[in-house]
Amino acid sequence: MHEPGLRHLAAADPTLAALVEGEAQRQHDKLRMIASENYVSTAVLEACGTVLNNKYSEGYPGKRYYEGQQFCDQIETLAIERARALFGTEHANVQTYSGSPANLAVYLAFMDPGDKFLSLELSQGGHLTHGSPVSATGKWFRPVHYTVGRESGRIDLDQVRDIARNERPKMIFCGGTAIPRTIDFPAFAAIAQEVGAILVADIAHIAGLIAGGAHPSPVGYADVITTTTHKTLRGPRGAMIMAKAEHAAAIDKAVFPGLQGGPHNHTTAGIAVALHEAAQPTFKAYAHQVIVNAKALAAALTGHGFDLVSGGTDNHLLLIDLTGKGVEGKPAAKALDAAGIELNFNTVPYDPRKPWSPSGIRLGTAALTTRGLTEQHMPQVAAWMAEAVGAVADTATLDRIAGEVRDLLKGFPMPGYTG
Ligand SMILES: Cc1ncc(COP(=O)(O)O)c(C=O)c1O
Repeated sequence: MHEPGLRHLAAADPTLAALVEGEAQRQHDKLRMIASENYVSTAVLEACGTVLNNKYSEGYPGKRYYEGQQFCDQIETLAIERARALFGTEHANVQTYSGSPANLAVYLAFMDPGDKFLSLELSQGGHLTHGSPVSATGKWFRPVHYTVGRESGRIDLDQVRDIARNERPKMIFCGGTAIPRTIDFPAFAAIAQEVGAILVADIAHIAGLIAGGAHPSPVGYADVITTTTHKTLRGPRGAMIMAKAEHAAAIDKAVFPGLQGGPHNHTTAGIAVALHEAAQPTFKAYAHQVIVNAKALAAALTGHGFDLVSGGTDNHLLLIDLTGKGVEGKPAAKALDAAGIELNFNTVPYDPRKPWSPSGIRLGTAALTTRGLTEQHMPQVAAWMAEAVGAVADTATLDRIAGEVRDLLKGFPMPGYTG
């Protein structure tokens, strides 16, 4: 059963309640390895489902356009102070609705239409909002891209420096959505400083690892830091923009009134709770365990002949090129899902195939770490993956693995579900 309980929802809309219960059980029964997903705590779920949904709060604490902010001002201030303390930043804006609007706010703060910026290309591990041609950021601004090395699978900082010197971008993005290796923030900062660019670190994927001290921090190097609050940080679906004090006014103005109306106070409350949780010693242990698990899984998968982009991982994320296995990413992802192992098909750098049917898969260890799995379980996970990828059309095998996954997960409670 879902927790918090859905008594009122079940009475008012049994169809919807049954769908939510179904999703809760699905999340319980699957090895959830989508790199951008996690399980939020029951406390975060409760905070997001409160009467804060009822309140409009255009503006910022102490300076609102609507009355009745006695509690919402305190809630947003709490979230801001917790973000600043956890990450050690001078400024934090907790109002952006999600990671994509957070990035758009950064463009609005620093760029004019047609201005040039430098980022990692989407197919190489960047994000849509880092200038993909299908994104507003690629249509309205002028992206130039750096890549990863064809052999190394790693960002080549000499190339980044050369492009920056030649192109003189106004802004440089580091960070992305399918980068299995540590981001060298000091090196990016040195390049940005040399060419007079604003450095933006998009830490959406690794924010929880940074908060838990398991990945170097961009604070002190990046002018602006954007992040989602879900993924490894384990909060609700939302985002934050952190910045040096000199950029605070530009960022706040870009978020409101530049892009948004009222903030989602219920989400702000959930973010505040998640930040409080992330400041606890148990979160540090979780962040480190995420990486221990990812490295153990990488080693075990390599043992089964999987080809990992960059040869392994430094963080929560693994990117696998399945070309050598003779299976495309999409049928592999679908077979794994049928086997109770949930991840996504993904392009790999220099992929000859298209994003809708690419050569690879991407996975992460944050959610299974939250469930309590450790490095001891990773050889078994890798063995299941190898078997499923080798049997994409064999329903009986996939069903059998799904049953074994379910049996394992019975021993690992899920926040938000009582069984
Ligand atoms: C690096 C990066 N930035 C931004 C985003 C966008 O976040 P959202 O999906 O919340 O808009 C993502 C989401 O996956 C991401 O990976």
